Amino acid sequence: MNKPQILVCRAVFPETLQRLASQFDVEANQDDTLFTPVQLAAKLQGKQGAFTTGSERISAELLAACPDLKICANMAVGYNNFDVPAMTARGVWATNTPGVLTETTADFGFALMMATARRITESEHYLRAGHWKNWRFDQFAGSDVHGSTLGILGMGRIGQAIARRGALGFGMQVIYHNRSRLDAATEAECKARYVSKEALLKTADHLVLVLPYSAQAHHTIGAAELAQMKSSATLTNIARGGIVDDAALATALRSGQIAAAGLDVFEGEPKVHPDLLALSNVVLTPHIASSSTPTRLAMANLAADNLLDFFSGKTPRTSVNTVPAAA
Ligand code: GLV
Repeated sequence: MNKPQILVCRAVFPETLQRLASQFDVEANQDDTLFTPVQLAAKLQGKQGAFTTGSERISAELLAACPDLKICANMAVGYNNFDVPAMTARGVWATNTPGVLTETTADFGFALMMATARRITESEHYLRAGHWKNWRFDQFAGSDVHGSTLGILGMGRIGQAIARRGALGFGMQVIYHNRSRLDAATEAECKARYVSKEALLKTADHLVLVLPYSAQAHHTIGAAELAQMKSSATLTNIARGGIVDDAALATALRSGQIAAAGLDVFEGEPKVHPDLLALSNVVLTPHIASSSTPTRLAMANLAADNLLDFFSGKTPRTSVNTVPAAA
């Protein structure tokens, strides 16, 4: 019997590729070429499966052009690159990689928040540029993390893991806002208190964004929300580009409306708003929150597991939709 044909859309760990190649006829992309939508559709002709990343948009148009496609396995927990209703309507499974990246991503969110509050990259650039001549009483004085109020917007697995770090490790008061409130046991375990979005914005010393992107979440933080925050507050975005209005954020950072920001994700990334690049009170990283070697390998292998599940007749283990069995 012919093996299923799979497109691996981006470069991936050789061991993941070997696992896939043991079961499938694989077209790999170890040169890591970024396909345009037209190139992606051409590459997917005759393919039943795709190993995708956030870079590949699986749209209704693409699905219409690729009738053999049965499953797209995203190597990411976020899946806003998928048009899930269109995939379900066409009988295409959508899978993601939840769970395996929670703690690594929470570590990074916490690190980015701390780097932002304590001005780590700004002071390093100063030192590297040869400007450091003397100790000074107020040199790069930032804000405290320990004992302050941590605000979390989006309280899924990663938000909860950040809450635990703040409450248990740094003695922070943790407040959160989410579409739905956590149950009392989970709130108690995370030592997190549910508040309105308005109270979150007004009270947080350090606000961390961990909500998934959707059309409704577009510009969740814009000029009006930034205006409600403390002038001493920091904002950290490890969620998705587009959740923050980056132009409004740059204005707020320039005017001192908020103190500083840490951003791992950007509107239109890998492009970064030029006004952000020009500011010193923002820490910028290239969408690497889940990027520890063991976690990226676990994500790649979980995406592969979903393909292996599906083509061996099982339900993919971490699907985000359900496709009824063909009649
Ligand atoms: C990364 O952004 C992910 O969604 O896994």
